[in-house]
Formats: sequence, structure tokens, C-alpha cells
Amino acid sequence: MSVVDGTFDRRRDHPPANVAVPVNGNGVGITASSDHRLKLNPNTEHKPDSYDDLPMEFSPLLFSCLERYLPPAILSSPRDAKAQYMREILLKYSPEGERIRVQKHKEYRQKIIMNYQELTPAFFLQPLHKEIYSMHATNFFAPSFLKAIHESTEDRFRDIMSEAAPGIFTFEMLQPQFCELLLKEVKNFEKWVCDTKFKIMRPNTMNKYGAVLDDFGLEPMLHKLMEDFVRPLSKVFFPEVGGATLDSHHGFVVEYGIDRDVDLGFHVDDAEVTLNVCLGKQFSGGELFFRGVRCDKHVNTETQPEEILDYAHVPGRAILHRGRHRHGARATTNGHRINLILWCRSSVFRELKKYQRDFSSWCGECQREKKERQQLSISATKEELLKKDGESAS
Ligand SMILES: [Fe+2]
Ligand SMILES: [Zn+2]
Repeated sequence: MSVVDGTFDRRRDHPPANVAVPVNGNGVGITASSDHRLKLNPNTEHKPDSYDDLPMEFSPLLFSCLERYLPPAILSSPRDAKAQYMREILLKYSPEGERIRVQKHKEYRQKIIMNYQELTPAFFLQPLHKEIYSMHATNFFAPSFLKAIHESTEDRFRDIMSEAAPGIFTFEMLQPQFCELLLKEVKNFEKWVCDTKFKIMRPNTMNKYGAVLDDFGLEPMLHKLMEDFVRPLSKVFFPEVGGATLDSHHGFVVEYGIDRDVDLGFHVDDAEVTLNVCLGKQFSGGELFFRGVRCDKHVNTETQPEEILDYAHVPGRAILHRGRHRHGARATTNGHRINLILWCRSSVFRELKKYQRDFSSWCGECQREKKERQQLSISATKEELLKKDGESAS
């Protein structure tokens, strides 16, 4: 058995999160560009300009925040001069490849959304159902799910969930009407893609069909879905993989059928927590199979018998698991199956992970190795004691 690890695009849709204000402990700005410096302490009295309308590769907010750290001589210059000064400093601290990637993706999204949402010549399509582009919880979710989220305790969550295997939770989540609207919306978008011959990016390198929902306007709604609905659950069930600090997502639909993607190989997701909801329609096959959670180092290790689980999708029903829970999808042999997938990520967890080597709080193999080491040390101690006993007896 092998795992295709890292097959999915490691797409992060956010610009570099923390561009540190480049100062050292002596109160002297570190040189960024040869003569471009920031001050150690901000001028709190100064009211920063707005940079919203300037076309720049960094967030306008970043400029407004940095402005207070400008040296007095620059602070009184015109806005364009200040922006240029700060831009040169920022460029020093942001790797070029990442910057270009973020900028390109931003332009790609703008191109779709401009065409899809705002222009209305006959050729361009508009969103069909505007009401799903922002969160309307009572229209979207099953009442039992909403009630549990509202109370937000482990007991209430467990009332509506079944834990099919350790760390794999399934529950009734979406209302049939919402599934129907989302399916129509995706179809509408795909028709537009087909009519305009727009070359879209697929959700990941393993799926040839399906669409990234974030790319055509559903990003704000899905962000809310992650923050208000997935994070409360993950905080309780997956705290050791950053469940409480999920802060970004990748939201998409995948389509299976004999004339679509048929199955999906064994893999792990580029996510801390994955929400997978079946939207419909009529299909047979397409079961998910799970084979235990693994860290990067152990991704190809053997499966233990107790880690084997197969799960059959039910429309409207969600399955929630750690992204590192190895899985794949069997062939959808009849009809069409469309699933909504939300990969939820935690930048805090990813940063901390760089400094750790033992993942026995969630990796099955790290756990097994740790137990083995403990067992060995116990038997070594026993042997030592027996030897001592024997020596004192003789
Ligand atoms: Fe997956
Ligand atoms: Zn491990």
C-alpha cells in the first residue's frame, strides 16, 4: 500500500501573514533598503492614510499599520511617497516566489468574479442564487446541527455525531434545499466556464473535475462556515492539530461518476481538519476508506487492523476528520456524486510543527513507536532488577 503524499497543491490563499516590523532591541531600525528604516516605536498620535485604492502587491491594511513606524521626515511626505518607501521595505522581507504566486492568484480570482458577478452582458452569467453567498445558518443547516453548535459542548456535539472510528465523526449537517441550491450554483458556474472557455484551476492536482468555490465569490460564506461551525467542533475533537486556531480554508466541490473523476487514490489532505459533505445526487459506490492518521515522516507506514474504516456517503451528511487521516475514495460506479470539501488550516499549528519531532498525540505510528520504547525500557529495568536480585542471592 502506498500513499501519495503532498499530491495536493499546497495552495495558501493568504499573503504572508506576518511581515515583521524590522527593528532590533536597540531602538535603531535595521536597514531594509540601503537607507530605508522604520522606527522602533510607533507614532501613536499619527492617523494613518488609507491605501485601499492603491494597486499594490501587499494588503492596504499593512501599509496603514506600518505608517506609524515611519521616520518623521517620511511621515509628512505625500501618500504615494510613503507607500513607495514602505513597499521597498516590505519587498526585502517577502520571498519573491510567494509574492508572485499570491498576486497571480488574486488577479485570477478578480478576473472570474468581475466577469461572473458584476458584468451582465448576455454572454456573461450572473450568480443564480445570491442568498447562498452569505451565511444564513437557519436556511443552510439541519436544526439538530444548529442546536448543537449553539450549545457548543462536547456532550451536545456527541448527541448528534457518530464516531465511526477514533477521530472520524459523521453527522447530519446540510438541508436538502441548500444542497440543491449549491449544486445549481456550481452547474451555473460550470456552464459559464464552458461558454466563455475560461481556463479554471481545478481544486487540486488529483481531481480533473470540480470547482474551487472560493474562486467565484463563495469565499466569505465559507470562511464563516469554518469560523463559526467547523472551528467549535475542531476545538473539542482535534485540539492537538490546531483545531482551536483554524484560520484559513480552501473550499471546493469534487464531482465523481463514470464521465467525471471515477475514484481518488490514497492520500492525505493539505489541511489540519477536513469537512466533507455529500451534496447528492443519485449514485452508487464512492465509499471513502480510511487507514489511520500519520505525520509526514510516517505517511507510508503500515496500517494496523483497528485503523481500517469504510464509509458510505449520504446526501446532506458530513464527515469530519484530521487532514492527516489517510484516505481515498472508491469508484463511483453509477450516477453522479458531488461533495463539498472544506480544508481548514491553522497557521499557528503549522509554525509550531516545524519545531517538533514527536507527534504521538495524533500520529498512530509515533504513538506505536513511543509505546514500544516504553515497553523496552520496562523490560530493561526488569532485567536489571532480576540481575541484581541474582547477584545478592549468590
Ligand atoms: Fe482528501
Ligand atoms: Zn509519526
